[in-house]
Amino acid sequence: MRILGISAYYHDAAAAVIVDGNVVAAAQEERFTRIKHDPEFPVNAVRYCLEEAGISGNELDFVAFYDKPFLKFERLLETYLAFAPRGFTSFRQAMPLWIKDKLFQKDGLIKELATCLGNGADWGAKLVFSEHHLSHAASAFFPSPFERAAVLTMDGVGEWTTTSLAMGAGADLKVLREIHFPHSLGLLYSAFTYYTGFKVNSGEYKVMGLAPYGEPRFADLIRSHLIDVKDDGSFRLNLDYFDYCTGLRMTNGKFDELFGGPARQPESPLTQREMDLAASVQQVTEEVVLRLARGVARETGERNLCLAGGVALNCVANGKLVREGVFDNIWLQPAAGDAGGALGAALAANYLYKGAPRARVNGHDAMRGSYLGPRYRQEDVEQRLKAAGARYRVLEPDELLESCARALAEGKAVGWHQGRMEFGPRALGGRSILGDPRSPTMQRLLNLKVKYRESFRPFAPSVLREDVADWFELDVDSPYMLLVADVVTGRRIAMTSEQQQLFGIEKLNVPRSSIPAVTHVDYSARVQTVHRDTNPRYHALITRFKELTGCPVLVNTSFNVRGEPIVCTPEDSFRCFMGTDIDLLAVENCLLEKTTQDSALKHRYEGAFALD
Ligand SMILES: [Fe+2]
Repeated sequence: MRILGISAYYHDAAAAVIVDGNVVAAAQEERFTRIKHDPEFPVNAVRYCLEEAGISGNELDFVAFYDKPFLKFERLLETYLAFAPRGFTSFRQAMPLWIKDKLFQKDGLIKELATCLGNGADWGAKLVFSEHHLSHAASAFFPSPFERAAVLTMDGVGEWTTTSLAMGAGADLKVLREIHFPHSLGLLYSAFTYYTGFKVNSGEYKVMGLAPYGEPRFADLIRSHLIDVKDDGSFRLNLDYFDYCTGLRMTNGKFDELFGGPARQPESPLTQREMDLAASVQQVTEEVVLRLARGVARETGERNLCLAGGVALNCVANGKLVREGVFDNIWLQPAAGDAGGALGAALAANYLYKGAPRARVNGHDAMRGSYLGPRYRQEDVEQRLKAAGARYRVLEPDELLESCARALAEGKAVGWHQGRMEFGPRALGGRSILGDPRSPTMQRLLNLKVKYRESFRPFAPSVLREDVADWFELDVDSPYMLLVADVVTGRRIAMTSEQQQLFGIEKLNVPRSSIPAVTHVDYSARVQTVHRDTNPRYHALITRFKELTGCPVLVNTSFNVRGEPIVCTPEDSFRCFMGTDIDLLAVENCLLEKTTQDSALKHRYEGAFALD
């Protein structure tokens, strides 16, 4: 059974291929087109996935789309009618777009498939539609290491559903309860993302990163005016304060009044107020997630929980779920956002539509470390680098590790392009920029000279799975960097009272632990555990770094500059290397030093990407 899954037309288009229930390949379209969150039909991702699986379009049994366009249209129509005439302007503006692009999505999809894969197949007969939250739930349960589990999905909005509770057992997955639009935890978070001056659908993680600087002094206001949460975690929003049903913005004048002023202008200086707003919405979100999870545990009696949907990318809330022990085991789909819907749709078609038996669950998840994207063979890498004008040396694998580990220990920034590209929003040691977390200047250096941003967020640590409990208050697998945990007490450095008076990012420049580059102001860190079996080369690099320094932790940030999708090809990596102050680049067995490169090839990034 060969199934292609597709998500497209909203944000983060992606494709995935499964063969007999095994996840073979998955990738986001943005990595190929170099357009961040590219929503267009994922031509390149589809072609790549089929090539990786070694099958032609004709050999596909099904093509599964991740949501139902007609349901979405119905939601839009009903929402606008319910709020008319207030929403007439945005109704009129949105309608032609929806009629053109959404209503005829099935015809459009068939055409796109024919253009992309040829006319040889009856695409209309192969095409099946999953539902948005069912796609998320399937992506969370079927690849999980569990035979049975409760499944919770939370995001902005699918067709109608914003939150769903499902039960997975073997090859079966049943939705038990749903919360419908416009009541949405994702949209509540997005409203504050907009209000604090960040981009909706991409700036949410910045709000999460800003929260530790603030006091949740607005949390009571949110609880008493914006959201009504029941004991089981189900909730309703008070729509008097929001404008997303009818307007073209998230919040309205009443919202401004409640929080004492208008939204912050994007890119203007951050003040304590935004930090307090972030802390407040983060606190309320964590409460709702915990309450939902407790409700799910009570209702299902299950001890395993799977999570997906954009809200599952809130690693701080996830970390709390683990610490509170609401479930014995938690598994998070690494592509928790809509890109993962492509994989979920394919899995839903395989198990729920075709009734295939569940692939064996052997204690490991089926995501292959989320290394599901393109890999470039050594000869291919050499050819591509040569054509790009790069100067490199080809080393034995051991020599390459030694050179990189030593450079890292000397405080250098290393570009690390190895094996298959990651599926999902995080770089996990396939396309990463690495650094020494012990350095008190690394956070600043990487932000200003490599990523071209002033960030109030520290970087994330990669730590050997064997050593995680010695460094962080965490002793479970976190291979997808989706759990936040504190640095252990013994490695923390307390702030003096003078330092505590510092404002915002100044505070971040005061070392909080012996690994300051990855420690937030509240001692928290977004941890990735590195496992020998899923990424042996990355594991070996950190092991060598530990032998040299005593520290089994590296700074791991995505291989890109601000606003750019993560690099995919060797050429992308070389370009980013030449456009930043990365000192050393390892692409498979090729090692590139900055000092020996042709300076005429220096790449200028200014204005190349819109700010995220
Ligand atoms: Fe979604």
